[in-house]
Amino acid sequence: MRMEKLMKQKQPLTRRTFIRTTAAGSFALGWLGGRQAPMAFASEASKPALLGGTPVHKGGWLKWPEWREAWEPAVLKVFRSGHWFRGSDSHVEEFEQGYAQLLGAKRCLATASGTTALIVSLHVMDVQAGDEVIVSPYTFIASYNAILANMALPVFADTDPETLTINPSSIEAQITERTRAIMPVHIFGIPCDMDPILALAGKHKLTVVEDACQAWLAEYKGRKCGTLGDLGCFSFQESKHIPSGEGGAVTGMSDELIDKCGSYHNCGHSCGTYKGNGFFTRGGNYRMTQAQAVILSQQFDKLVKQTAVRRANADYLSANLGQIPGITPVHLPQDSRAVWHLYPYRYDQAHFNGLSRDKFAKAMHAEGIPCGGIYHEQYYDGLIDEAIASRGFKRLWSSERLKAYRDSFQELKGNKQVCETTVAMTQNMLLADRSDMDQILDAIRKIQAHSAELAKAG
Ligand SMILES: Cc1ncc(COP(=O)(O)O)c(C=O)c1O
Repeated sequence: MRMEKLMKQKQPLTRRTFIRTTAAGSFALGWLGGRQAPMAFASEASKPALLGGTPVHKGGWLKWPEWREAWEPAVLKVFRSGHWFRGSDSHVEEFEQGYAQLLGAKRCLATASGTTALIVSLHVMDVQAGDEVIVSPYTFIASYNAILANMALPVFADTDPETLTINPSSIEAQITERTRAIMPVHIFGIPCDMDPILALAGKHKLTVVEDACQAWLAEYKGRKCGTLGDLGCFSFQESKHIPSGEGGAVTGMSDELIDKCGSYHNCGHSCGTYKGNGFFTRGGNYRMTQAQAVILSQQFDKLVKQTAVRRANADYLSANLGQIPGITPVHLPQDSRAVWHLYPYRYDQAHFNGLSRDKFAKAMHAEGIPCGGIYHEQYYDGLIDEAIASRGFKRLWSSERLKAYRDSFQELKGNKQVCETTVAMTQNMLLADRSDMDQILDAIRKIQAHSAELAKAG
């Protein structure tokens, strides 16, 4: 689900009003004989907002995307110049250099969107019609679509319920003689455990395209996501941490690969050292415009600063959510840092008197805390069935392989569990104050304390 959809479910689109209370929204009762008594919180005693009580939070979270007047002169200058397309000025190249530097990547190629970054990368990594790409099923649908657009089959490895990312130990069983690439998705900005993935890719001579579309500045063992595999892909769509309406990028450490991407994204023109006569290679138009680049370049500092705020608030939430029975924060791979495009946790209704996840989310909305389930089992939605029933796909795979492929979705038990139990909040909420984080925790405790009544209320 897109961030803006989640926010619109119940969210007034006003600017954040800071709520500063010295009591920080909750208080602990008593210490007994040197042993900590069970914590009781003020909010637990009050009636849930869904049942007529006062909401824990006043709402009014930071509106996203943000716009700053200071950015306007540079954008207007582009429009007034009439030099709008990539080839008519240098702003896109400047953005590419700045973004590569921010990531510690050798190169960056700007694209029209994250989807086109993935399509270009897969093509350059030689994913061809009839190939197979192993991918995480727990992702935005563009990850599936980019593979299908290259006439390849998205083959799903399972999701690890602890990390919400691809379970490395489920990958090898999915490798066939057609497998060409692995596409780990750093979903919500949570780094995948890349060491075992890269080791498997090396062992089976597969390439790795990272879907880092939600992972700007996320880190794994001291390196940024998007610089770990052969190529990395980013999205700058409106909901993203660094947005330009639409936009994307491919990053990497190889001049040769990025030049090939540059050529394919620009109708097959020569690019850098990848050259020939005329249209010597295939290509399309996947280019970024000058105005998009100017908007993006002006947000580098903001991205760095806001990433630190999101991280600090997410760490605080995770430490405290772990104390609430039935709520499990995400486990990050060792030596990694997430950037939290959404802030997810798993919800166990058994600890909430059987209150379903949807009713929990509804009660949270009523408390002024928008949240919800995010991705469902999208491989049953129809796009995969449509693809494998198509003339092209039937020409490329045997009916036995397509049947076995379709049947294998039932084995994605970790993913099913994650789809059914994850609850997430949007990233803009992590930019609020610590007192707001306390109120998020309070709302969950309050709902838990009243979960029996809420479950009955229907
Ligand atoms: C994980 C993931 N992959 C790919 C994409 C596609 O990016 P875009 O919407 O810019 O095409 C997105 C965008 O939301 C995404 O979240």
